[in-house]
Amino acid sequence: MTEMSSFSRFFVNLFTGRENRRRFQWLSAYLRLPPRPQCLEVGCGNGDFAVRVLGGLGPTQYLATDLDPRQIEVARRHLARLYPGGLPPALDLRIADMLALPLSDASFDAVFAFGVLHHASAEHHDFTNVPRALAEIDRVLRPGGSFAYEEFLHNEKIRAWLSARGYTIAAVGHPWKRETVLAIKSGGTAGLVSGGR
Ligand SMILES: C[S@@+](CC[C@H](N)C(=O)[O-])C[C@H]1O[C@@H](n2cnc3c(N)ncnc32)[C@H](O)[C@@H]1O
Repeated sequence: MTEMSSFSRFFVNLFTGRENRRRFQWLSAYLRLPPRPQCLEVGCGNGDFAVRVLGGLGPTQYLATDLDPRQIEVARRHLARLYPGGLPPALDLRIADMLALPLSDASFDAVFAFGVLHHASAEHHDFTNVPRALAEIDRVLRPGGSFAYEEFLHNEKIRAWLSARGYTIAAVGHPWKRETVLAIKSGGTAGLVSGGR
């Protein structure tokens, strides 16, 4: 696992608004969640994606997590600016490592991981730790739950890992040099989607 350099952190925190609007718009066409879902985000960066989900899906819980305490502070400040009246009660920010999530089994209807999975190993091209992160996400996701992620590395291997564990790849998008995927865990009925691309 790795923390980002100050240089990377600067860029990640700069461009997120537009990226997250695009991601949420894309996902909204495919996501089928139960009413008032419980959502987890790993590697939340500045926390901006939470705003899209809180506004668009009305979750009962949105837990935004990141390994880096400085990112959680950035997220807290970013969200405090966007919610001047106080953070929504459903929103919680917590330091957590996606390789060892301090969370109960089967406790979320959706997990989001944008640009994070390649951080599982110190060397981003090294796939070794990515299955550990995926296994943790799988553990905390309910049967039928939705896992949405975006990556520019390891995409075939990640999809193969998910398919081997019974996930349905419900939708795949290809924004610039990346792949955005919505995968549905087997069992349950919550995340069933009718199509993909
Ligand atoms: C490229 S940034 C993406 C941030 C955000 N998801 C976005 O799209 O703007 C990667 C984030 O993953 C976090 N991260 C790195 N390793 C992690 C780990 N093992 N567990 C959780 N978060 C991690 C970093 O601190 C950083 O905030």
